[in-house]
Amino acid sequence: MEIRRIGVLGAGTMGNGIAHVFARSGYSVVLCDVEQRFLDRGLDTIAKNLARETSKGKITVEQEKESYQRITPVLDRAKLTDCDFIVEAATEKFEIKTEIFRDLDRVARPEVILASNTSSISITKLAAITKRPDKVIGMHFFNPVPVMKLVEVIRGLATSQATYDAVRDLAQKLEKMPVEVNDAPGFVSNRVLMPLLNEAMYTVMEGVATPEAVDEVFKLGMAHPMGPLTLADFIGLDVCLDIMRVMQEGLGDPKYRPCPLLIKMVDAGWLGRKSGRGFYKY
Ligand SMILES: NC(=O)c1ccc[n+]([C@@H]2O[C@H](COP(=O)([O-])OP(=O)(O)OC[C@H]3O[C@@H](n4cnc5c(N)ncnc54)[C@H](O)[C@@H]3O)[C@@H](O)[C@H]2O)c1
Repeated sequence: MEIRRIGVLGAGTMGNGIAHVFARSGYSVVLCDVEQRFLDRGLDTIAKNLARETSKGKITVEQEKESYQRITPVLDRAKLTDCDFIVEAATEKFEIKTEIFRDLDRVARPEVILASNTSSISITKLAAITKRPDKVIGMHFFNPVPVMKLVEVIRGLATSQATYDAVRDLAQKLEKMPVEVNDAPGFVSNRVLMPLLNEAMYTVMEGVATPEAVDEVFKLGMAHPMGPLTLADFIGLDVCLDIMRVMQEGLGDPKYRPCPLLIKMVDAGWLGRKSGRGFYKY
């Protein structure tokens, strides 16, 4: 089956980026979210990011216009029924993803691959909810999606070779670099990255250093392009907390305990860049 029409669930930070890169590569995209305002916000971000690419000479004005026009926003999930491939990028909550995968299994044709952009939730568990576990896979993009090259492709226990091959090829068509990993909480990227960000938060909480000082240490001493607290604000502190909780539960080791300061900040609604306040003010 030729993949031409892509369904994307969730028009947030990642979903709008995923819709952007598929549309830019010539695919038609059906972008689905639960409220019109989330779709509007996602489309607005896509328009701005495409315009930025045009101004930098990465795409032509024509490509900018055509890419945007390839995206159809929808609220009704039933409209994903004619999609050839669906990638879910909804909120990082197991209950939300469970409901989505159960429903997508009903809505999508039996041969359609269902991918998740989850940062940490078990692909094997999501697959087991469906009647097509061999066609469920992790397709983990990185933020900002139009810029970052990596796609971590995660094989669940039942994921077939054909499904893996199809997703690897799709990632390459998007001019991304697929890297294969097996299913485990946090996969590779977040298993290694999140404890670093979490530990940086502990140093702030314990008064070891200011957020600015922690970030300078990593930029100047380790040549990181941005410090861990700037990065945490960029990812979203709620997303960081959700991932730490999944790893704490899934791996059972106390080293994955989320920093109490992180919990407090999320409780306060300080979610980082997207809410205007995190370790920094925006
Ligand atoms: N933020 C990152 O840097 C990053 C990086 C890689 C992967 N991820 C993963 O991508 C996914 C999305 O994260 P995000 O940062 O874009 O979150 P976000 O909060 O920016 O966006 C999530 C979107 O999903 C929508 N949504 C919630 N329930 C839905 C449903 N039932 N159907 C359709 N849409 C629904 C929300 O309305 C929202 O617009 C998560 O699984 C996250 O772990 C995030």
